[in-house]
Amino acid sequence: MKAGLTSILLLQHLGRAAAFTARAIPRPPSFAQRITTPSSPSSSSSYSSHSLAMSSSPFDETRGGTHSIADQVARFAKAKADGNVRYLDIDSVYDGGDLSGKRVLVTGGNRGLGLAIVRELVAIGATAVVVCRSSSTELERLVGKWNVYSGVDVVDDDAVREVARRIKGDGGALDVVINNAGYFYGPQELVKDDTLNFEEQLKQINICALGPLRMNNALINSKALADGAKLVVITSQAGSVEWRSTQNKDTGGDYGHHMSRAACNMAAALLAQEVKGMGYSVLLLHPGFNKTEMTKKYEHIWEIEGAVDPKIGAKRVLYEVIKNGMDETGKFINCEDGLQIPW
Ligand SMILES: NC(=O)c1ccc[n+]([C@@H]2O[C@H](COP(=O)([O-])OP(=O)(O)OC[C@H]3O[C@@H](n4cnc5c(N)ncnc54)[C@H](OP(=O)(O)O)[C@@H]3O)[C@@H](O)[C@H]2O)c1
Repeated sequence: MKAGLTSILLLQHLGRAAAFTARAIPRPPSFAQRITTPSSPSSSSSYSSHSLAMSSSPFDETRGGTHSIADQVARFAKAKADGNVRYLDIDSVYDGGDLSGKRVLVTGGNRGLGLAIVRELVAIGATAVVVCRSSSTELERLVGKWNVYSGVDVVDDDAVREVARRIKGDGGALDVVINNAGYFYGPQELVKDDTLNFEEQLKQINICALGPLRMNNALINSKALADGAKLVVITSQAGSVEWRSTQNKDTGGDYGHHMSRAACNMAAALLAQEVKGMGYSVLLLHPGFNKTEMTKKYEHIWEIEGAVDPKIGAKRVLYEVIKNGMDETGKFINCEDGLQIPW
């Protein structure tokens, strides 16, 4: 995006966010909409028409307060207006003590949000077991060389089955599995520009949807889990079909990204039903907007959309991991506010 246009859009965003109140809602475009159409001026009015539609119908997006708000700018602005400390200051509610002494596997724990989760696990006295493609001296010093299983691509059936067998052989008994490895293709995909990349769509589906299913399947069948283990899938709000009409209103876009997370959610919802009888719960967590390499291209909207340092994102994720269990199995939860995201 050109710098001048970026500034104009940022000013539009800031003006609207400042004007936000809980009832009069001049809602600007959401994170997902902004990232899918960073230069589309028409998108800035999209939420207003949604609001008009809402005023003529009894539809309550929050389902009486149980569900998060689709529009990310409005969601963040409302958290500020409400003084929502759960949202704005995770340290005020988070205590990782419940995970102390637990064995927690993290895929993609070598960088980004995954590495921040691993650092936090070590800080609270958990054993972090990292499954990744490439390790580092820093990571091995942090968790112990024997706890890093590198060279594992989550799209490789054999490698995933083999690492699960090795983990079982090395003690298994995983209390929590955090399927964090993920991938978001860089360029925009639009039909009207003829920019769909089907190969990249399949790659995202393979990594983000089949990847967690492959890993969970291998760990269950290798008996590498402790009784009552929690299988966590780091998914994304991008997988919500309902939220596309707000976050991608009039634009569509990023087909592979959104399809991969919708498929990811379906797999996790099915797995939750299949394994609850085995005593395992499955949690689908949107980790919030984190300042990582994945979102670096959206740096210009980090502040207005409430993006956080991954250290904070890690605590938000672990807070939800601790809080939720079998009663919430199969639920799709936003780690920013602890509320559900609609399918
Ligand atoms: N950041 C956000 O705001 C945000 C929002 C919603 C959801 N998420 C999700 O949160 C997770 C972490 O995101 P992030 O922001 O930390 O992303 P990131 O900085 O791009 O890191 C991605 C991680 O996934 C690993 N990975 C990618 N493809 C893999 C594969 N085929 N096999 C094994 N590992 C693979 C990467 O390993 P390499 O180092 O080997 O590439 C890296 O460790 C992802 O699932 C992402 O979709 C993030």
